[in-house]
Amino acid sequence: MIGAGVMPPEQGTAGAAEMRERMDRVRNALSTNVTEMTALLAPARIPDRSRLNHILLETNHVVHAGHRLIGESGRMRSADLAAAGNIPEAQAAMHRAWAALAMPINQLRLDLNKWTHVESMLRPQVKQRRLPLIETYEKLPGTVITRETVGDVLFADLHTLLNPLEQDEDARAHGCHRDIPLPQSRFLRLVHAARRCMCVLKPGQPTQFLDVGCGAGLKVISAAPYFDRCAGLEYDPGYAKLAAKLFRGLPHDRCRAIPGDALTWDGYHNFDVLYFFRPIRDDALLAQMEQHILDSVPEGTLLIAPYRTFVARAERNNCANVTADLWLTGSDAAGAARLRRAAELIGTDVPLQAGANVPLIWDPLIEASRRRGFEPTLRWRHPLEDDSV
Ligand SMILES: C[S@@+](CC[C@H](N)C(=O)[O-])C[C@H]1O[C@@H](n2cnc3c(N)ncnc32)[C@H](O)[C@@H]1O
Repeated sequence: MIGAGVMPPEQGTAGAAEMRERMDRVRNALSTNVTEMTALLAPARIPDRSRLNHILLETNHVVHAGHRLIGESGRMRSADLAAAGNIPEAQAAMHRAWAALAMPINQLRLDLNKWTHVESMLRPQVKQRRLPLIETYEKLPGTVITRETVGDVLFADLHTLLNPLEQDEDARAHGCHRDIPLPQSRFLRLVHAARRCMCVLKPGQPTQFLDVGCGAGLKVISAAPYFDRCAGLEYDPGYAKLAAKLFRGLPHDRCRAIPGDALTWDGYHNFDVLYFFRPIRDDALLAQMEQHILDSVPEGTLLIAPYRTFVARAERNNCANVTADLWLTGSDAAGAARLRRAAELIGTDVPLQAGANVPLIWDPLIEASRRRGFEPTLRWRHPLEDDSV
């Protein structure tokens, strides 16, 4: 029997205990759903869409219940305070119990608030559609064509602004082209296609891009959203130095410049995607560079070579066309077509924002979706819009 003035064990903490128990139930339900959805979205698996849709709707309910629970916590805390009355031990126990809940409630709130982003990442996977790696240019709306053309003009100007250097005399004598840019929109189309192919070839693994003859490095910088690491090989010492300086000024450290000669360099096998836009003037020497690259890289490497003379030489070297100017080494046409069809089912997102540093309950699901080309971004809003303005 509890005597007068001795508090019952739960006095002033019953609400906190209930809150903890109900939060555990919400967390466990979310965690179970995350595990099942993550398994459904494993690489190379065709997800059971109706099951995915079902769990998605169920998760929606749990998230709403979680929001309601957090909304109720103020009332539950006030009830505990009232129940503690003016017994100092009960008041202290009540404050301790609710102080211990502050962090878990905050974590749950963070998790729940991210759901809209996660849901918008999952919905297109329920209704997954095949999307061509590169759209037919003529079928693009006029607005998009004009926007791309304006972007190309601006990028050509930027290219000139970034590289005011005269070509090095030795580089000229070596047969090097000056730093002449491929139009930006054409480049972005090709690297985007290559990224989606990489999601099929190496799901979840770090990807390495190389620009063979990078000039001042604008293409290397432009490739950075699509691959984990990007490098530019450059013969002209002035250009190579300029590229290294520009890369040092970036807000990330994923780009690097490598001074070297494309004709003899021995590091090609370390890259998954190699881009070369006719670096060398003389065609025989250019063919020699291509052969050196083809002899150096393993099967399953992607090559981006946006010029006509490469076509016949690629086909003679067991290198098959995936789409447009994108090639797959060590493959026949059927292998390249299989890759293209699988990559058409990969989403089109790229991770534009740095990952948050707070671990969230959704992380395994976000990782699995990222491997399939889907990011947790609000699709009805521009992904780079700032919430704070
Ligand atoms: C046509 S520009 C391409 C620039 C950039 N990659 C682009 O697509 O916008 C060719 C670049 O390749 C470089 N280059 C030419 N021959 C090279 C070689 N043998 N080794 C390394 N770089 C070379 C040139 O100095 C020049 O910067």
